[in-house]
Amino acid sequence: MINLKKIIIAAICGASGVIYGIRLLRALLERPVSVKLIISKAGEEVLKHETDYNGTEFKSFLEKEGIKLHPEAELECYQPNDLFAPPASGSFRHNGMVIAPCSMKTLGTISSGIADNLIHRAADVCLKEKRPLILIPRETPLNLIHLKNMYRAAQAGATIMPPSPSFYFQPKTIDELVDTVIARVLDHIDIRQGIVKQWGE
Ligand SMILES: Cc1cc2nc3c(=O)[nH]c(=O)nc-3n(C[C@H](O)[C@H](O)[C@H](O)COP(=O)(O)O)c2cc1C
Repeated sequence: MINLKKIIIAAICGASGVIYGIRLLRALLERPVSVKLIISKAGEEVLKHETDYNGTEFKSFLEKEGIKLHPEAELECYQPNDLFAPPASGSFRHNGMVIAPCSMKTLGTISSGIADNLIHRAADVCLKEKRPLILIPRETPLNLIHLKNMYRAAQAGATIMPPSPSFYFQPKTIDELVDTVIARVLDHIDIRQGIVKQWGE
C-alpha cells in the first residue's frame, strides 16, 4: 500500500534555542505526520540545560510539554551514531529534513560534505537527492566562516532560515514568537500550518 503520510526528518543540535526544535516537533506531531527524530549528543546537553528534559524518555518529556500527538502521527527516534538508520540512505523516501536549531559545527560539517553522524549524513543525502533541507542556524555574531558555510550550504540546495521571528501579529509569549519561525518552516516543507495568519488574511 502507498503511504501518503508526510515523513519529515527532524534534528536538534547543540545550539541555543532548542525550543525551536520542540515547537517544530509539536507542530509536526499535532498533524498526521511521521517524524524521524535525531538529537545530537550536544543537542541532548543543551536540551537538559534549556528545558526540563532530564535525559530519559524523550517521548514522555514531549507529553509533559503538553504536546498531544495526532492519532495518525508517528515519532521514531534514532541515535546520532546509527548510520544504519533509514535517513542515512537515499533510498529512504521522505518529504524533507529540518535541523532546528543547527549549530555552527553541524552547519560547517554539512557544507564541507562530511557525514560522520546520522544528522550530517541525512542532510548530505537530502542535498544529493534534491530533497528539502532546512537549516535554522543559531549563533551571534556570525564570523566569516559561518557566513561562507551558509553560502555554500545554500548553493548546494539547503534553505537557510535564521531564527528571526516576525512581530507583525504581536506575539505575546515566547512560544508564539518561536511559532512565527516554525510557521515559515512548515510552509517550506509544504505542510498546511494555520499557526500564523498569512499576510493579507
Ligand atoms: C549551553 C550551550 C549552548 C551552545 N550554544 C551554541 C550556539 O548557539 N551555537 C553554536 O553554534 N554552538 C553552540 N554551542 C556549542 C555546540 O554545542 C558545540 O559546537 C557542539 O560540538 C555542537 O555539536 P552538534 O552540532 O553535533 O550538536 C553551545 C554549547 C552549549 C553547552
